[in-house]
Amino acid sequence: MRFNPRLLASARHIVVFTGAGVSAESGIATFRDKLTGLWERFDPAELASAEGFRRDPALIWGWYEMRRAGIAQAQPNPAHLAIAELAQRVPKLTLVTQNVDDLHERAGSADVLHLHGQLDAARCFDCARPAGAVLELPEGAGDGKRIEPPLCSACGGPLRPGVVWFGENLPEQALSQAFLAAADCDLLLSIGTSGVVQPAAMIPGVALEAGARVVHINPQVTGAGHAREFALAGKAGELLPQLLREAFG
Ligand code: APR
Repeated sequence: MRFNPRLLASARHIVVFTGAGVSAESGIATFRDKLTGLWERFDPAELASAEGFRRDPALIWGWYEMRRAGIAQAQPNPAHLAIAELAQRVPKLTLVTQNVDDLHERAGSADVLHLHGQLDAARCFDCARPAGAVLELPEGAGDGKRIEPPLCSACGGPLRPGVVWFGENLPEQALSQAFLAAADCDLLLSIGTSGVVQPAAMIPGVALEAGARVVHINPQVTGAGHAREFALAGKAGELLPQLLREAFG
């Protein structure tokens, strides 16, 4: 059965749950896109880990600074903008993202729940003291090379990106707020995620269990297995503006 876009307009509380696919049309590689350059021979999970950082801080810091440089050059795309507009049109919208970029915020979304942290929030690897202000991007950050991480002003330890690495816990408050919102909403849009990384991947299921409708938006969307689950195959930057036009005219 096809999803009726007018359900967007009649929803009391919408949860929007995004993954790397929502930033793909901004030119940001998704997490499982093939890695290139220095990092080609690594598995992303190996790079996104405390062990990887301990082993070679400059390799890991350089990888994240290259991504941060790419994000700084990127612009929010129509999917980010449509999500920010939707929040203005419904009584309540909770935005939960697995992404570590700031494109939702730059599109105008507020109170974004970042389950996997934020690239701009560097902190000390040893004493966990936040780096404070967003660090200036070093010369050549986008060149894809090793960069020695700056040192903590308090203890002299190396700074690390403010993202959640494999094997690390997700920020408790963001995760519990996301689960509460999923359990309360009447509609959840799952946009641009492969749904393979736990515990974030549980969120659409929590909404479904609680009686909400769930809509997956993804070019490689799989069939929806539940009567209240819908699959819209396509690019978020195309489908979301279209859904808003159909819902709100
Ligand atoms: N519009 C919508 N979806 C898209 C688009 C697009 N234009 N382009 C790609 N996609 C989809 C892909 O089909 C894929 O299913 O986005 C999804 C991206 O999946 P991943 O790369 O696995 O990213 P994500 O689901 O966000 O990964 C979750 O895993 O690796 C960790 O911490 C990392 O936050 C990340 C988490």
